[in-house]
Amino acid sequence: QKLELELESIEKGGYPHFMLKEIFEQPRSILDSMRGRLVAETSHLVMASVIEFENKFKNADRIIIVACGTSWHAGLVAEYLIEEFARVPVEVEYASEFRYRNPIIKEGDIVIAISQSGETADTLAAIELAKSKGAMIFGVCNVVGSSIARATDAGAYTHAGPEIGVASTKAFTAQVTVLTLLSMMIAEKRGTVETSMLRQLMMEMEQIPAKVERALQLDTEIKVISEIFKDAANFLYLGRGFNFPVALEGALKLKEISYIHAEGYPAAEMKHGPIALIDANMPVVVIATKDSSYEKIVSNIQEVKARKGRIIAIVTEGDTVIPEMAEFVIEVPDTHEALTPLLSVIPLQLLSYHIAVMRGCNVDQPRNLAKSVTVE
Ligand code: G6P
Repeated sequence: QKLELELESIEKGGYPHFMLKEIFEQPRSILDSMRGRLVAETSHLVMASVIEFENKFKNADRIIIVACGTSWHAGLVAEYLIEEFARVPVEVEYASEFRYRNPIIKEGDIVIAISQSGETADTLAAIELAKSKGAMIFGVCNVVGSSIARATDAGAYTHAGPEIGVASTKAFTAQVTVLTLLSMMIAEKRGTVETSMLRQLMMEMEQIPAKVERALQLDTEIKVISEIFKDAANFLYLGRGFNFPVALEGALKLKEISYIHAEGYPAAEMKHGPIALIDANMPVVVIATKDSSYEKIVSNIQEVKARKGRIIAIVTEGDTVIPEMAEFVIEVPDTHEALTPLLSVIPLQLLSYHIAVMRGCNVDQPRNLAKSVTVE
């Protein structure tokens, strides 16, 4: 047993938990997921499987994304990315709902299945169903040779390395990385984005690992905020556009490991329900980075403030407006709006981690949850 404990501590590489180690591995895992696929200087953007199925990607009328849990959130980010750049309609489905709904699938549809483990039963069943109806299946998996990876026609692995913590962190950002490159490649093939714009996006993408590194330096600051909110009974997470899925993911992380009830919402939907919950005891995490919905989210912050909600805002470095309104402000580096999820999710991962540790929870193995769900 002593040997086992020693081995585990070596595996954790000096970190107290796998989750924290995996959060801090993200500059590397994002880079590994881009390696060989992107070199901005030479406008090199390559995913062998997209080239192999070039015609399918050029002619697809529709892309359906199936996944569960955190992978489903990465799918939502991909919906925004693919529709924005490649102008193909995208639907994102919970694999468990999709498979039992007698879904309409045509030949020529592309189904993208996203799964860290590659073993999720519902996702695998959704793939088999779509396959039987003639769709091409593209996998985004982390585990090489997994059941889902084997069941797909083509795919691109995320190179996040083994993820041990049950709450997914580095696998999520690796998925978003691969899906961002995929959306750029489909856009290139379909000619839906100007070459100069594509080039600029590639350059921004290359800078992401270094910016994630910078976002990780927020750790100490986030620990202080975590101490203040660790006893909260509820949390609300708000975001818009590319950061709406990040709000969902932030809430899921907190639920999973700290057992605090948390909800993620598109900020504008707040007025249709969640606003009723806001009082002086309600922490509201708002992702309010400088992007096309910035003005709108600033007014959402005002709405929360008017009801005395306690605002923790994730903003772009140098923002001078939101610090005047929010109780706490966490600054992430600036980037292209479509790439912000890769940065804005980092403080949310750290926040849930620290709160869970402070509450004495088993961070790496939360109650009732499994890393890989092979039963339905
Ligand atoms: C479980 C895990 C989650 C994961 C989900 C989907 O619920 O606890 O972290 O997001 O399954 O798993 P997959 O391996 O398909 O991405």
